[in-house]
Amino acid sequence: MEIQVLEDPATPVAEMLVETAERGGQLVLTGGTTPKLAYEMASRAGGDWSRATVWFSDERCVPPTSGLSNFAMADGALLGRLDRSVRPEIVRMEGELGPDAGAAGYEAEVRARLGGDPRWDLVLLGLGADSHCASLFPGKPEVEERGRLVTGVELAGMEPQVPRISLTLPALNAARLVVFLVTGADKAKAMKRAFGDPVDPGSPAAHVRPRAGELLVLCDSAAAKELG
Ligand code: 6PG
Repeated sequence: MEIQVLEDPATPVAEMLVETAERGGQLVLTGGTTPKLAYEMASRAGGDWSRATVWFSDERCVPPTSGLSNFAMADGALLGRLDRSVRPEIVRMEGELGPDAGAAGYEAEVRARLGGDPRWDLVLLGLGADSHCASLFPGKPEVEERGRLVTGVELAGMEPQVPRISLTLPALNAARLVVFLVTGADKAKAMKRAFGDPVDPGSPAAHVRPRAGELLVLCDSAAAKELG
């Protein structure tokens, strides 16, 4: 694991997204508010995304047009801003189907295209103040899932309180590279739980450790302040 404390962690994330897309990689985008800036930077950098495939770490069970949709955020900040001729293939989690059918559909897509050990080239994740990542919330049964790659989440542990669809730990840990982008003092405790020494086993993010890949944490000094 490598932790980099940077003034502007969104910039290297944007660069990594564009580089991976231009190589025709399999990218997993995340939701929440933090990555929006990196997505906007990546859209301005442009590049040819036409050989890439874009997946999602998690989704809220709302229509893709909803202001709560992670797809809508990524589409508005990045995917929909790319010139049509260079847009990637997008494999969206269908939140509108509900958590169980939506998760089953996504699991089938992942297995059909990438098999049971999906070696994503880049998985981008955020970190919640409660130390959740994707939609794996502390103390919830979905964190313990070891058989499936995608799970429905009936009860979210944080706002917005809508059911979710989420990649599971085995899916996240199959990645070649996982990058956490974390900013702000409200994430300092969660950072310590997930990446401190020792980690807190109750933190879902503390279990994101790629089996045969790398883990990179890009954060600002406010988020890093309790790491010691
Ligand atoms: C979601 C996310 C989630 C997010 C964290 C951090 O659907 O909410 O994918 O895992 O990354 O909640 O969110 P913020 O960046 O908004 O703090």
